[in-house]
Amino acid sequence: MRFGHFDDANEEYVVTTPDTPLPWINYLGNQDFFSLLSHRGGGYSFFRDARLRRLTRFRYQSVPADNDGHFFFVNDAGDLWSPTFAPVQAKLDSYECRHGLGYSRITGSRGGVEVAVTYFVPLDATAEVQRLRLTNHSDTAKDLTLFSYVEWCLWDGLDDMLNLQRNLSIGEVEVDGSTIYHVTEYRERRDHYGFYSVNAPIEGYDTDRDAFIGGPWGTLAQAAVPRGGRPGDSLAAGWCPIASHCLRVPLAPGQTRDLVFVLGYAENPDDDKWEPLGRTIRSAPVNETLGESSSAGSGADPAADDPGAAEGRVPSRRPMVADTAMGRPQPVGVNKVRARALLARFDTAEKADAELARLRDYWRDLLGHFQLESGDEKMNRSVNLWNQYQCMVTFNLSRSASYFETGIGRGMGFRDSNQDLLGIVAMVPERARQRILDLAATQFPDGSAYHQYQPLTKRGNHDLGSGFNDDPLWLIWGVSAYLKETGDLAILDERVPFDNDESLARPLIDHLVASWKHVRDNLGPHGLPLIGRADWNDCLNLNAFTRTPGESFQTTVNREGRVAESVFIAGMATACCPDLADLLDRRGETSIAAEVRQFVAAMRVSLHDHGWDGAWFRRAYDAFGQPVGSAENEEGQIYIEPQGMCIMGGAGLDDGRAAQALESVNQRLASEHGVALVAPPYTRYHIELGEISSYPPGYKENGGVFCHNNPWVIIAETIAGTPERAFDYYRRITPAYREAISEVQMTEPYVYAQMIAGPAASRFGQAKNSWLTGTAAWTWHAATCWLLGVRPSLDGLVVSPRMPESFGDYAVTRKYRGATYHIQVTGSGKTGRGRLTVDGAPVDGEVVPVAPRGARVEVRWEGR
Ligand code: GLC
Ligand code: GLC
Repeated sequence: MRFGHFDDANEEYVVTTPDTPLPWINYLGNQDFFSLLSHRGGGYSFFRDARLRRLTRFRYQSVPADNDGHFFFVNDAGDLWSPTFAPVQAKLDSYECRHGLGYSRITGSRGGVEVAVTYFVPLDATAEVQRLRLTNHSDTAKDLTLFSYVEWCLWDGLDDMLNLQRNLSIGEVEVDGSTIYHVTEYRERRDHYGFYSVNAPIEGYDTDRDAFIGGPWGTLAQAAVPRGGRPGDSLAAGWCPIASHCLRVPLAPGQTRDLVFVLGYAENPDDDKWEPLGRTIRSAPVNETLGESSSAGSGADPAADDPGAAEGRVPSRRPMVADTAMGRPQPVGVNKVRARALLARFDTAEKADAELARLRDYWRDLLGHFQLESGDEKMNRSVNLWNQYQCMVTFNLSRSASYFETGIGRGMGFRDSNQDLLGIVAMVPERARQRILDLAATQFPDGSAYHQYQPLTKRGNHDLGSGFNDDPLWLIWGVSAYLKETGDLAILDERVPFDNDESLARPLIDHLVASWKHVRDNLGPHGLPLIGRADWNDCLNLNAFTRTPGESFQTTVNREGRVAESVFIAGMATACCPDLADLLDRRGETSIAAEVRQFVAAMRVSLHDHGWDGAWFRRAYDAFGQPVGSAENEEGQIYIEPQGMCIMGGAGLDDGRAAQALESVNQRLASEHGVALVAPPYTRYHIELGEISSYPPGYKENGGVFCHNNPWVIIAETIAGTPERAFDYYRRITPAYREAISEVQMTEPYVYAQMIAGPAASRFGQAKNSWLTGTAAWTWHAATCWLLGVRPSLDGLVVSPRMPESFGDYAVTRKYRGATYHIQVTGSGKTGRGRLTVDGAPVDGEVVPVAPRGARVEVRWEGR
């Protein structure tokens, strides 16, 4: 069943009912300011860091789901409704939500009135714009009252939920004309504030949540103020500050009215925090007499409390007083210069529309670096649009903020962010470069790394510490992807601190060497790399041995006996360390290069001797030296990760093991909904294996289809020469091909989810944890570089198609190092071999040499 459809021409997914199986969201913003927005207007915003600078509040696990957001209420002669359906949930005569690239337009109509809300975060703006168009399609005049609504978060998303004894007393706002300022904690140590404005005079406002909804027992769906059709003019003093505007919108039959709301964030320099209070500014008065209440909850005009304000004078009892050079303390408010400048950019609908057009051009240009033309529209839209888009979002946010990641638990993962580079390096190489330098700076001198860091401070955080022994190698992987794309070898000479300590700065190449040495110096009894706390599979905790309820599997004290080893890390080393050796050679550091190659050769021998189980690659050796992922085990006999990774490293290609391993994957792990992580899943807790055996069978790492590693098998299949199976696996997990079973999948049909419940699960085929997953970058990489076969290398663009013959001919336009390559492929999948011509001239091998910037290169590949 579908709940909408793709509109490829407009680059949108159109949700046609509010009643989807889960909130279907979009991401607005690309650099500093982000909003998550569901198809019902739910979601929240933050500046850079979803934990440390959260603007609006979101309650996880709320009932109904997705109950907080950036909402509007329309009161049409007593009939209350919301154009985005939520929060009022009054039945709409028409509804649609168009999720596009960096914007969403939600349109609802009722009683002859249509309201279209376009939400977007403009380029170079720390703000979300909400552009409204209200149209009266009826033949009677309407006198609408419109209310906006956001609830402020008190900046730190975690503390906001925990520290109520403090937080319920600290909320502060100011109201200046049509702009509501959120200034909690500004008086002391913060230099930032939020604001919410509209480009029209307002009837009134509300800034106190209880006053707005009608006291502690009110609901947002039937909020008292919009129901009553009049603003409460409430001024928050503690409790829960909100921002709501009230506007009268009279509409003659056929008439249209545009409004632009802006939700923004600004920072002031420490010595320029204040300005004298303006004539119209209002904020909660400080009551000198106990028992005298501010206007909160009364719905009364604060001016009634303060005759001075009614006459346009400053309320007499302003709380904020600065030490001024003027000699005497005077009432001051937050310096609003920066907010006003930002608002001026969007103060007409025309300006907002121009910014939206600019944003769309920006995305079109970004996605233009790779465009596929083929007879398969699902593959086209995945590769040209949605997979690229998801790669960008995932790169921006790592695993921090989604509807499954709360944005308070995890920062930027070291391993995750390095892999995310694969998905965006061609789109935004300069941002990839910066990310590499940031990541490398959180590495320790011994090559290990903080497992994650905070985006706001760019410092490693101690929540998960270090000791994940695959982490160091991902840096090599990320940097090498960047260099193959850009050829920017100079980055290797950039001096980068270890552990953010400038005195420990070394050229980036030394970081990569440290990564490799960390693996070399930490080998176990079989000559395979020690696993540490875990490798890519965070839940395979071979040294944890935890019995304490609630204890973290990842951070508990490890029983580090230097026995538990990872076959996966061995495979990974054989896949990425040859790239390091190449880089060292190019720099003339040939003796270290030779050492790296020797190490790779030794690793291949260990893999051959101890990594093979008979019909597939083993997964690991546990703390007692027993195999994991072996036919000898009762459960958990075969794992997906080493099959893909070892073959990517070249294992088993000359002795039949690769083909056999892939056959085993097909027989034992593959399902109609993708390839499961492990089989048979664990039915009981294995203390020597850790978290993986804590999940019910079929979920997450315990035998779910953990989509992230499916592309490794897809790539392995292309390397092993079985493109039909590769493309088949690709289609099983790719959302565009699963759209028709949206009621099973449940998550958005335009983005990958981290996990689809596996064959052993009670809800086989149901996806969870959409958006922020390494699946985005890896499937993109598998589809473009391996299946379609257009792959950057240090020497140029490799063209080596591996699509099945049934897919038919196709063309790819690829921008690469400043030139544009137009690549036409015929006869892919016939034999795997082909004839390559560049601008009409035959070329030996499969590398198209780097063309001058600005060149347009015609490439043909014909299968033989
Ligand atoms: C999550 C983590 C990732 C890990 C994977 C498997 O997606 O973000 O780092 O590799 O789970 O456990
Ligand atoms: C849990 C999750 C896993 C994730 C890890 C890291 O173990 O199951 O997927 O990678 O947490 O936080």
